[in-house]
Amino acid sequence: MREPQTGEFEGGTAFADGDFVPLSEAKISLFDWGFTRSDATYDVASVWNGSFFRLDDHLDRFFASMDKLRFRIPYTRAQVRDILHACVRGADLKQAYVAMVVTRGVPPRGARDPRLAENRFYAYALPYVWIASRDKQLSGIDLHVSRRQRISPASVDPTIKNYHWLDLVQSLFDAYDQGRDTSCVVDADGCLTEGPGFNVFVVRDGTVRTAHRGVLEGISRRTVIELCARLGIPLREQPIPVDDLRDADEIFLSSTGGGVLPIARIDGQPLRLAFPGPVTTRLYDAYWAMHDEAAYSDPVRY
Ligand SMILES: Cc1ncc(COP(=O)(O)O)c(C=O)c1O
Repeated sequence: MREPQTGEFEGGTAFADGDFVPLSEAKISLFDWGFTRSDATYDVASVWNGSFFRLDDHLDRFFASMDKLRFRIPYTRAQVRDILHACVRGADLKQAYVAMVVTRGVPPRGARDPRLAENRFYAYALPYVWIASRDKQLSGIDLHVSRRQRISPASVDPTIKNYHWLDLVQSLFDAYDQGRDTSCVVDADGCLTEGPGFNVFVVRDGTVRTAHRGVLEGISRRTVIELCARLGIPLREQPIPVDDLRDADEIFLSSTGGGVLPIARIDGQPLRLAFPGPVTTRLYDAYWAMHDEAAYSDPVRY
């Protein structure tokens, strides 16, 4: 495989069908079950100031998800790491959103047996993606608490990073219809789960809480949990009735696409403390400071 030169692909690099190509040339088949059945798994890591953040954790989660869904790719973990580095190098990105994807592939015409498909591996790097714009982060994100249910963990294991997003997308339309910025959804008991691309944390009387099940185990969620331990901030993973969001002191989101993101309003109502609250601010600062720690950094080989 020919590796790209630094900056060969302006604006982003893709790896598809064994080759590095400009983003506009990366395509998947109309008949790939990744498209027709959401039969795929993926992961998204970030590059900040020229280094991957927690790349090993993202690779662990990606390979574990592949195992659970019985995907096989012709690349080792070390080769996947090299491909991701090459994608970032190819576009010479210092701040990047870096995705790895495996799809079931295309079974022989007419076949209904997923074992007959050859799994496909894709990767790409783009300029860093924020789940909320800078303006929105400054003016304050308004979160809609949807009554829609996240797909049950009994149906789709949420620890496998997946494209089962119709619940999340519908909740986003509900949010926009009401003039809100984004949304979170509940489980069958009416407890908080997660939102489109993020985990959710609720702060009350100095204690941080986040959903204990029915959510993706976000790498940024893990970072927040670890930072709470370091900073001596009490943290509980437990069921959170959604009404608790309405009288929270602070709420924040966690995502690879933006780190710790403070929420200003819940369905139009300001939270008890002006945003960003003190606990959120400490975690926000600690989150970005952690990017400078060698243990979590993997410098891109430009
Ligand atoms: C449904 C869902 N929950 C949570 C997250 C946050 O995960 P991470 O912190 O690994 O980006 C994501 C990220 O895309 C997601 O899609």
